[in-house]
Amino acid sequence: AVTSQGDAESNWNDKIKVFTVATEPTDGYTRYIRSARVYDIEVTTLGLGEEWKGGDMQKPGGGFKLNLLREAIAPYKNEPETIILFTDSYDVIITTTLDEIFEKFKESGAKILFSAEKYCWPDKSLANDYPEVEGKASRFLNSGAFIGYAPQVFALLVDPIEDTADDQLYFTKIFLDETKRAKLGLKLDVQSRLFQNLHGAKNDVKLKVDLESNQGVLQNVDFMTTPSIIHGNGLSKVDLNAYGNYLARTFNGVCLLCQENLLDLEETNLPVISLALMVTQPVPFFDQFLEGIESLNYPKEKLHLLIYSNVAFHDDDIKSFVNKHAKEYATAKFALSTDELDERQGRQLALDKARLHQSDYIFFVDADAHIDDGEVLRELLRLNKQFVAPIFSKHKELWSNFWGALSEGGYYARSHDYVDIVKRELIGMFNVPHVTSIYLVKKTAFDAISFKHKEFDPDMAMCESLRNAGIFMYASNLRIFGHLVNADDFNTTVTRPDFYTLFSNEIDWTEKYIHPNYSLQLNESNKIQQPCPDVYWFQIVSDAFCDDLVAIMEAHNGWSDGSNNDNRLEGGYEAVPTRDIHMKQVGLERLYLKFLQMFVRPLQERAFTGYFHNPPRALMNFMVRYRPDEQPSLRPHHDSSTYTINIAMNRAGIDYQGGGCRFIRYNCSVTDTKKGWMLMHPGRLTHYHEGLLVTNGTRYIMISFIDP
Ligand code: UGA
Repeated sequence: AVTSQGDAESNWNDKIKVFTVATEPTDGYTRYIRSARVYDIEVTTLGLGEEWKGGDMQKPGGGFKLNLLREAIAPYKNEPETIILFTDSYDVIITTTLDEIFEKFKESGAKILFSAEKYCWPDKSLANDYPEVEGKASRFLNSGAFIGYAPQVFALLVDPIEDTADDQLYFTKIFLDETKRAKLGLKLDVQSRLFQNLHGAKNDVKLKVDLESNQGVLQNVDFMTTPSIIHGNGLSKVDLNAYGNYLARTFNGVCLLCQENLLDLEETNLPVISLALMVTQPVPFFDQFLEGIESLNYPKEKLHLLIYSNVAFHDDDIKSFVNKHAKEYATAKFALSTDELDERQGRQLALDKARLHQSDYIFFVDADAHIDDGEVLRELLRLNKQFVAPIFSKHKELWSNFWGALSEGGYYARSHDYVDIVKRELIGMFNVPHVTSIYLVKKTAFDAISFKHKEFDPDMAMCESLRNAGIFMYASNLRIFGHLVNADDFNTTVTRPDFYTLFSNEIDWTEKYIHPNYSLQLNESNKIQQPCPDVYWFQIVSDAFCDDLVAIMEAHNGWSDGSNNDNRLEGGYEAVPTRDIHMKQVGLERLYLKFLQMFVRPLQERAFTGYFHNPPRALMNFMVRYRPDEQPSLRPHHDSSTYTINIAMNRAGIDYQGGGCRFIRYNCSVTDTKKGWMLMHPGRLTHYHEGLLVTNGTRYIMISFIDP
């Protein structure tokens, strides 16, 4: 009987049996099965739980797959209407329904249709035996995916093959035998209508967004086909991983994958985690780094802390941190620079300890990775992956802790989506080839990790070992949990080196050194304090600013002698000398001018409306020291400035007695100066003033004469 076309198709659809092989449920297998599931495709997995007998897949091998398949399809060998679809699983993604797959198979006119690729492998010498193809078509057979009628497929598999022999070679030989080829109705999908092998095909394919579904599709741009089954054969696994971030309904504007298979954290049964802090280079803002660690929302009795350092500069801070907090953690240990472990050994030590403590996970955090949100650990756990990292980047830069692609030598290459991910124009969880700085690894991946490599650093070695083991490294920017500090050009030979990093770490610097109430004062509705006429009073810098700057000056110790002769000045003469050190002398002049521009100028514009000078100029920026046995006060004078700022560096009444500033014309004094607060007043003409007597202790103030 003749059935209608439509009926025939739906019947055929039921007749497609999909087989794959997976001895282990790797991340690749999970991805494959997921892709089948989203298109309602049922898959029979062969070999699950069995030992892989197909040899090392870096070399020829894979006969084992064929032997498993032969046995599995034997029951269908006499069913001419049954169709067998076979694919690999670790590096394959299905991107359409069976209807579409069937349609394409039918159009091909083949009885068995194999995927095709650009390389003749494993026996190159057979290349010339292949039929010619036109233009950019793929000439050679790939055994990672094929589809055919059951009797023909069974006939294709009848010859015996060793488990360790090469399945691709086996099929190639049959294909190259013209009689067998004709008899079995064998064809290659040379234009990638149904199958796309990715090795050697980088320029043949393009990831597109289907505007209707807002989902990714991979197009073969040579033939304008949209292949249904994508295979990251051979060396193209990283490419498949990258495309896979957008294929098979992982993404439709929002990350769908991120909402699947999440782990429910049970408060009474939280995983045990080894927290491995790695200090492998001198880093600025180490105290903030440790604060970030302290802010982790996780019971410390579930955390085994290990801090590794090969940087003497940080050893003391590490020791005191561990000593202070050791009791709270399940265990707490450190290895310092004096232990002379190199970075590779340090990371290995952390991993060994995690095994020893039977931790469920290890959470590596490098000292340049600042955690800004204590939920990071729980949120990573929830994503339920063997390896997952939060994406951290340097403020206002494209430098981040992941790579989207690899160069040929295994180094950094920019991926099409890298910038969008770093800028969070794309938000989700991405399978990437390289991650550093902060990542959570599940114990199932511990054994795959190696930090050793003849050429790569430990980070690159680890990532390569994970890639080779087929463990996916996911990087998530679902939330911003922290950032990287910039450790480039960090000079630990100066006193209080953090203070010198305004240009390289503007935001961290601001957080550490600017008064927490600073921004409030920019608000027009905020009334500015005015202790004397036209003398304004602002909260500008933090205690850390004052302490570090005083420490820098005291370490330099080049205080002037208080005489009128001052060779630091152009004329060599100072009419109203103080005991001081200029910012120039400690290498901070340029930084201080930037500070004036960024933080002082906006306040000035509030205090003295209509005066705009950007950037402010200042030839004299200096710290003054008043003490009873040196210079305790300063006689009345005018400043050679349009306006002057005077920031108190320490505490009146505690660090010293007396002191303050008296404005003579108004008979008004400010004596209760506050550490970190700034007085701002006109310099010439009206604000004739004097420095009041310090009777005990030392008073430090930081002065600038602006727009002289
Ligand atoms: C694929 C083909 O299977 C090879 O026949 C072909 O020669 C090769 O592409 C190529 O074009 O270079 P490949 O993708 O490199 O091989 O290898 P894998 O994906 O690592 O292994 C093939 C499949 O065997 C896996 O996808 C998986 O389905 C199965 N397998 C492999 C296991 O089930 N367990 C293993 O331990 C290894």
